[in-house]
Amino acid sequence: MKSKILKLLKTSDSYVSGQEMCKYLNVSRTAVWKVMNQLKDEGYEIEAMSNKGYKILNCPDIITNYEIASEMKTKHIATQIEYYNEIDSTNIRCKILAEQGAEDGILVVADQQTAGKGRRGRKWDSPKGCGIFMSLMLKPDIAPVNASMLTLVTAMALVKGIKEATGLETKIKWPNDIILNQKKLCGILTEMSSELDYINHVVIGIGVNVNMTSFPNEIAQVATSIAIEQGHPVKRSAIIARTMEAFEEYYERFLKKQNLEDLMEEYNELLIHKDCEIRVLGAREEYVAKAIGIDKSGELLVELEDGTKKKIRSGEISIRGINGYV
Ligand code: BTN
Repeated sequence: MKSKILKLLKTSDSYVSGQEMCKYLNVSRTAVWKVMNQLKDEGYEIEAMSNKGYKILNCPDIITNYEIASEMKTKHIATQIEYYNEIDSTNIRCKILAEQGAEDGILVVADQQTAGKGRRGRKWDSPKGCGIFMSLMLKPDIAPVNASMLTLVTAMALVKGIKEATGLETKIKWPNDIILNQKKLCGILTEMSSELDYINHVVIGIGVNVNMTSFPNEIAQVATSIAIEQGHPVKRSAIIARTMEAFEEYYERFLKKQNLEDLMEEYNELLIHKDCEIRVLGAREEYVAKAIGIDKSGELLVELEDGTKKKIRSGEISIRGINGYV
């Protein structure tokens, strides 16, 4: 009910009468009044005028399930949202939910993580009230070898979602990072539980640095936030909503072919290293190559110094800019 009331208030230019709300939601005047008071306590600025009704003047930067739902138009993705003020890791929670039989498309969101996980066993800095820490759980009917492409689909959705919500143009550092002004803005950690030929579930963890104004020393040189780059804080719920809408669109296109054939052209336009020299870091080898672009399976095609071409798989290898992280 809270998200419906919020949606009604947000989409109306003028006052919404209490009576209108009661009729639309099929609830009592007292129920509406109670929700209004709860919303005001949470920081929503709502004007109440006798004979006219309610008007929303300002929304706080919160990412509760009803705030996100009131912003979002998706058919299937994130229609169920679990919100936590604080949690160890949204990826861990999402996995538990999947094992308990949660439905495909559920989104877990937290305002703070106490054990946020990054890739390769690293930790993900997740301070309170300024970032987006969320995990989307999917049970796709695709072969397990194709699941890594979901990271690329998610990266595209983040670029589109961030552009629509903030106007900022970001780029993808294949395969997991989103870059803004040469620094890392978002990271993606995709985890999967599968049999040899069957996916039980995939958890796509997304961390976005939104309103952080500084970072711990270890990452200060390579990390940035939207607030640092724009010079002012932004509302996180709109970024989540636009990203989930974009994800739904790209995911549908991915599922049709079960590969990135219909998305690779757009993806390659977003690749920060397209046609640039990169350093490829494998477990045993390291070499310089030119990044050409991804193919339909999401592998990165690179050209070596002697002109030969090679495909690199995500997971096996990481890439760097020629003089540093980007
Ligand atoms: C990376 O190392 O770049 C990936 C970082 C992924 C962080 C996100 S925050 C939400 C979700 N929960 C986690 O514990 N990790 C991911």
